Amino acid sequence: MTDTANIVVLTGAGISKESGLATFRDADGIWARVRIEDVATPEAFARDPERVHDFYNTRRAGLASGGVMPNAAHVALARLEAEWPGGVLIVTQNIDDLHERAGSRNLLHMHGELLKIRCNRCQAITGWTEDLSLEHACADCGDAGGLRPNVVWFGEMPLEMERIYQALDRCRLFMSIGTSGNVYPAAGFVAHVTGGGTHTVEINMEPSEGAAQFAEAHYGLATETVPAYVDKILNGGKL
Ligand code: APR
Repeated sequence: MTDTANIVVLTGAGISKESGLATFRDADGIWARVRIEDVATPEAFARDPERVHDFYNTRRAGLASGGVMPNAAHVALARLEAEWPGGVLIVTQNIDDLHERAGSRNLLHMHGELLKIRCNRCQAITGWTEDLSLEHACADCGDAGGLRPNVVWFGEMPLEMERIYQALDRCRLFMSIGTSGNVYPAAGFVAHVTGGGTHTVEINMEPSEGAAQFAEAHYGLATETVPAYVDKILNGGKL
């Protein structure tokens, strides 16, 4: 992980939509079908852990099924990291593993990872692709019933925030891709970099909540807009 990247890319669920994964706030999004309060808060897990496990087991099975592949937008960002000399850091809100499978390495999952679980007792983090239930015991401490998805729920602190703000303070280009700009602290990153000479670009299906804060914007399908913008950066060369 090189923290001297001069391009920081924030991604959201929209970059994975064309890979077949649902977003959250589109009309057909996840929160149109399930309430956040029922499946994505610590209180929900304490109240009805089986319901929370079912919610994440379904999403984990979908991702681990082999039918979900990185798309041209993920691949373009991996190419940018491989070819841009100044360094690229992807900060993703997504809990899927499509950036990794597209070849990105310099990557932080600020909302955690669907294919990992965490023990509530000893905090051990383990790769996990199967269904998870209260019957499973932690491989490290043996505690049963306390294993949870290693994802950040509403009301919990996102991960790696110090490293993210350090990278934002150094970057010359901030790109925001496939996010509606509804959830903080990610939605505040553009304001954090504005004013310091950093160029800001929004790439999304439609203007996000924070659209007015970006110096440049490209709207359309990520599989078209992201490769085109990566070409522009690599062909233009200066930032
Ligand atoms: N190409 C580009 N953008 C797209 C595409 C696409 N094919 N499809 C959808 N989008 C855009 C939508 O217009 C929307 O603005 O992606 C955005 C997705 O927004 P959300 O569903 O709100 O997802 P996101 O911004 O990632 O949510 C942030 O909220 O629920 C929490 O933890 C969850 O990480 C998530 C966070």
